[in-house]
Amino acid sequence: MKVDLTKAKELLLKGNVVAIPTETVYGLGGWIGSEAGLLKIFSTKERPFFDPLIVHVSSLADAKKLTPEWTKAHEILGQKFWPGPLTLIAKKNDDLNPLITSGLDSVGIRCPNHPLTLELLKEIPGGVAAPSANKFGKTSPTSFLHVEDEFQKEVAVLDGGESSVGIESTVVGIKESNNEYQIEIYRPGSITASMIEDAFKGSPLKVTVTYEQSPVAPGQLKHHYMPKIPLVLVPPRFDWGKNAEKISLELKSSFKNPAFWSQPESAQLASRELYQKMREFDKEGFDIIITEIYPHHSQEEWRGIINRLDKAKSLRIKD
Ligand code: TXA
Ligand code: MG
Repeated sequence: MKVDLTKAKELLLKGNVVAIPTETVYGLGGWIGSEAGLLKIFSTKERPFFDPLIVHVSSLADAKKLTPEWTKAHEILGQKFWPGPLTLIAKKNDDLNPLITSGLDSVGIRCPNHPLTLELLKEIPGGVAAPSANKFGKTSPTSFLHVEDEFQKEVAVLDGGESSVGIESTVVGIKESNNEYQIEIYRPGSITASMIEDAFKGSPLKVTVTYEQSPVAPGQLKHHYMPKIPLVLVPPRFDWGKNAEKISLELKSSFKNPAFWSQPESAQLASRELYQKMREFDKEGFDIIITEIYPHHSQEEWRGIINRLDKAKSLRIKD
């Protein structure tokens, strides 16, 4: 059900959850000062407690209040990319509710780039913890209607239109020793390793940026972001007629009504379409989704999209 800013604020402060729009995907928000609100995030999503949440804040100043160790690298990245689709991991303050961090000694922090949500966050002391507003393991929502569908209209939603980026934020960990910084990308997104490297040009800091396995296994489970019908990744110029039987055998089911998602040329457009298309195909009576993977998809800007496709897929057929 749709709520306005005033109502959203009231609900959050009373310990309820509210779905909030961001430029990446919609989040299911709970006030970090309310244990009841935090618990409702997990029960509404059916999310396991071992998967930590990202705290959303409206400014760099508020981010710094969540951590005793805001390094120079955090500051440079926050200045450069916030508000925006980048989550920074930092050592957590002792008083943060362990539900947020799953008992880890670090916390994920993000300042999202959406005018309505920024306005809301200014009114909520400390910040709002928010995972993507979908049932655990399923496709993330990028519009008000997606959230309504996901929770059968039972969750209060601040309607902020369609998410412009369309896939979740880039998540980075930062390690410092002797003034050298190791920046590890745990979840690829629209902000790439090169963009992060570029942010340090002209600064005296020594940084290396790499893609690494997340130290937190659960959010990075092998299967995630899954549509209701199987998604199959296939090589270019794929012939359904010639391959339908093989796919049926592999997936132990027969398919009569394939949907083909032809990915836009630009990574930016593809990420905006990705979850929208998966939900559309789920609803429109198709029984399988096919998408072709091209050589250009190995370029860096596609990394986030291919990562999501890979985790959402039921099968990949190589050349
Ligand atoms: O774009 C986004 O990040 C969206 C919007 C709503 O902001 N949120 C989102 O939240 O995608 P969620 O919970 O679906 O994914 C959060 C990811 C998980 O993979 C989790 O494991 C990781 O962030 N994460 C959170 N805290 C962490 C920490 N302290 N250390 C390492 N990874 C962490
Ligand atoms: Mg999620």
